[in-house]
Amino acid sequence: MYNNDVILKKFKDNYAKDLILCQMGQDAVCYAEDFVITDFFYNKYKRVVLDNKKILEGKTVLDVGANMGHWGLLSLLNGAKSVTCVEPRGQYVNGLNKFSKMHGLDITSVQGIHSDIFELGEKFDVVMLGVITECIPDVYGFLQQLKAITKHVIILHTSLRDLPPGLCKMEKTYNLTHRTAVDPRSKGYLNNETGNQFDTKDWSSDDTSKEGVCFRWYYGIDHMTEIFKHFNYKVLRLEEHTQDALAGTVDLPGKFMQHIIVLEAEQL
Ligand SMILES: C[S@@+](CC[C@H](N)C(=O)[O-])C[C@H]1O[C@@H](n2cnc3c(N)ncnc32)[C@H](O)[C@@H]1O
Repeated sequence: MYNNDVILKKFKDNYAKDLILCQMGQDAVCYAEDFVITDFFYNKYKRVVLDNKKILEGKTVLDVGANMGHWGLLSLLNGAKSVTCVEPRGQYVNGLNKFSKMHGLDITSVQGIHSDIFELGEKFDVVMLGVITECIPDVYGFLQQLKAITKHVIILHTSLRDLPPGLCKMEKTYNLTHRTAVDPRSKGYLNNETGNQFDTKDWSSDDTSKEGVCFRWYYGIDHMTEIFKHFNYKVLRLEEHTQDALAGTVDLPGKFMQHIIVLEAEQL
């Protein structure tokens, strides 16, 4: 189905290999050479970028928790004016900056977490929050602040299937990297390159200091909708996708659900 998408073909043929190599290094050369667009990738791309093309065209975009910068790059290829990515892991920040320089693209990546976006001193037409709401402890305060710096918000929202939609749940986890969450108790990084806040000992079961403990926050969809209403965000789109919520979660069948949400901030 995605063979007809000229931009996705351009992404695969002209950019994907360099993006993977800049981000992962030469160890990923086989993956980079053999990169294919899967249905899983296409479905996410369609929901996050393609279906929002009208909102993204000619606009400045901020991608929070950008990881390798794939949605930012695909937004740019679909007509966005410029893209700024914020990501805690230095490896991906440096890799994306190297890649955008190599291809002369208007993508800038900055090391930081969600709350750091308010320190950038910039406004953006569109803010993307792709699988990142569960890393934000105070989503209420965050969405309130967000209104001041953007007009549109695109959210790929992950929650738990068994969570009553009106509620939220905090889950304790052990965090070796920034992949799942950050520890707001510690400001710095143990390792700027990886973005790690903890070492392997902190993560192990004999960690008496409990440095490696952190949390995820899952917000039910009605809970989120109430917050949108509260801060006068107009919901332009809200779709539920339960079948292909997260990659690599085949061992957790049915645990997660995902929504795509598009908001327009109504200024009071
Ligand atoms: C699940 S990945 C999602 C990547 C991408 N946005 C997407 O939709 O495919 C979450 C990313 O957010 C980063 N991250 C984790 N905690 C964060 C936080 N508090 N603020 C910003 N980014 C965070 C992680 O390093 C990771 O790259």
